[in-house]
Amino acid sequence: MGPCRNFSIIAHIDHGKSTLADRSLTGTISKKPSGSNQQVLDKLKVERERGITVKAQTASMVYALKSQKYLLNLIDTPGHVDFSWEVSRSLAACQGALLLVDATQGVQAQSISVYHIAKERGLMVIPVLNKIDMPASQPARVILQLESMFGVDPVDVLQISAKTGQGVDAVLRAVIERIPPPSASAENPLKALLFDSHYDRYRGVISLVSIHDGVIRKGDKIASCHTRKKYEVQEVGVMYPEELPTASLRPGQVGYIACNMKESSEAHVGDTLYRVGAQVDPMPGFRPAKPMVYAGIFPVDTNDFIKLEESVKRLTLTDRSVSVQRESSSALGQGCRLGFLGTLHMDVFRQRLEDEYDANIIVTAPTVPYKVVYKDRTVIVSNPTEFPDLSDSSSGVKEVQEPVVKATIIVPEDHLGEMMELCFAHRAEDLDHRYLDAGATKSARIILTCTIPLSEIVTNFFDKLKSKSSGYASFDYEDAGYRRSDLSKMVFLLNGKPVDALALIVHRSGQQEVGRTWVKKLHKVIPRQLFEVPIQAAIGKQIIARETLKAMRADVTAGLYGGHYERKMKHLENQKESKRRMKRVGSVDLPQEAFFNILSTK
Ligand code: GTP
Repeated sequence: MGPCRNFSIIAHIDHGKSTLADRSLTGTISKKPSGSNQQVLDKLKVERERGITVKAQTASMVYALKSQKYLLNLIDTPGHVDFSWEVSRSLAACQGALLLVDATQGVQAQSISVYHIAKERGLMVIPVLNKIDMPASQPARVILQLESMFGVDPVDVLQISAKTGQGVDAVLRAVIERIPPPSASAENPLKALLFDSHYDRYRGVISLVSIHDGVIRKGDKIASCHTRKKYEVQEVGVMYPEELPTASLRPGQVGYIACNMKESSEAHVGDTLYRVGAQVDPMPGFRPAKPMVYAGIFPVDTNDFIKLEESVKRLTLTDRSVSVQRESSSALGQGCRLGFLGTLHMDVFRQRLEDEYDANIIVTAPTVPYKVVYKDRTVIVSNPTEFPDLSDSSSGVKEVQEPVVKATIIVPEDHLGEMMELCFAHRAEDLDHRYLDAGATKSARIILTCTIPLSEIVTNFFDKLKSKSSGYASFDYEDAGYRRSDLSKMVFLLNGKPVDALALIVHRSGQQEVGRTWVKKLHKVIPRQLFEVPIQAAIGKQIIARETLKAMRADVTAGLYGGHYERKMKHLENQKESKRRMKRVGSVDLPQEAFFNILSTK
């Protein structure tokens, strides 16, 4: 095959990345049976349902320019903040990127963050305005934004409609003309960067690789720099856009290999593969994904734990950024504690789990990893039940720190006040803002930056941001380390006994409100017992809030008039069935469904 180019499309969510990817691939996929070119890159079901790209996918196409055929390798990147780790690893296999900006929306928070990631990686960035077919598009204004934000030369900006296809050809030409070919040599010893992998039931692990030097063929004996394990290559090929076996993968190419790798854990993203016997230095790898949001996952029916754990394991094979540990709770039984890159990541995983596992699960409230500093050591706590009681002077804790992020919010000027209020309500500090549109007067937009505790944005910050700005604000964040904080563990007591699965870590400023809200919620969903049950929220020994659940009569049939036999039996049956799922907390009987209801209502 001829010369090649490796590139990505980077964009804020919904700016049209998948549409453009599909549109550029149309030439190759139109040969396939009809229907297959429906957003071919978004393979996962959740992605289709939610219209977001979760896992980077890769596809190749052939494009002819001036009687020369080029192999263009498009490496798809996910478009949400939670997945910026995936973005950076996809970009490692590229020399250039198309920065796609919706001409009706302008530069948004993630346009800025993905642009910086691409620049840091030394990529050639081609600015592309999309959706110019829409009457609301304002290309001139957005070009000014690109100029003021990124120093882009207006003549370099391409204008397209990924939907109608207008201008897409010029984009592919620009890819060839502006993005440098990968600097690779067939003479040098083989060096392949493993940047993604998935598991295939029949062939084992399939790895996506970018060939930096040398050639890889079927039958080659290769080894991993990371594990030093040796493999024989069974198949190589390109994603066209589905797997298409080829004789070899040549320098600069991106494609897949199947070797006799049995376990997904052997495929280390960022690993360098080389030919057995050759001496090569590993290429710089990737920072491993760092889970920032943790939650416990339990089956509603405690007998289903094995099945749940198996489903979790199977799913983590395709998404290694999820960390998994077993967890057991006296209230919920056996479960798993999972770590995610962010809340959307958590939601997507949970939905995939529900599709796959086909049963109800209980997900505990999300927690971020806190640092508990003792005199001689620092412990990371990502499960509220392990958080020390700070009111107990013998705990030996010097201080507690929480993770903070640097948040960037872009919002129309008339919503600035509400945005600042929202940020302050979520304990933001170092608030700063400036105009995004240089010199614009009508409906100008503002970039607002601040540091904000991660725990404040993992719940419903994003939803509030959207509703308070009538959908106009965009938001992105990056890790900004840890900050000392006044936090404590809040526990909920039923009849004086703590319910472990409901423990929370809260900031002093939110204690009263959180305590009252949760106690009310519990009061609503817990069924009445034979006796009166106090429901309390406590921090250490101090009670923050309380509600009382009134007693009820035991016989469920007693209230039924008429004494119809069948009806009576049915009620007794129902009662038996729900008993099976009851959990006893102290002397209180709690159906698992109550937990489900508590934790799933926001
Ligand atoms: P993520 O993968 O979630 O980041 O989204 P995306 O950037 O891939 O966006 P996608 O391609 O799914 O497009 C978002 C919406 O914009 C879809 O409804 C598209 O049909 C629409 N869209 C994309 N390009 C164009 C365009 O050029 N013109 C018009 N009118 N609509 C477009």
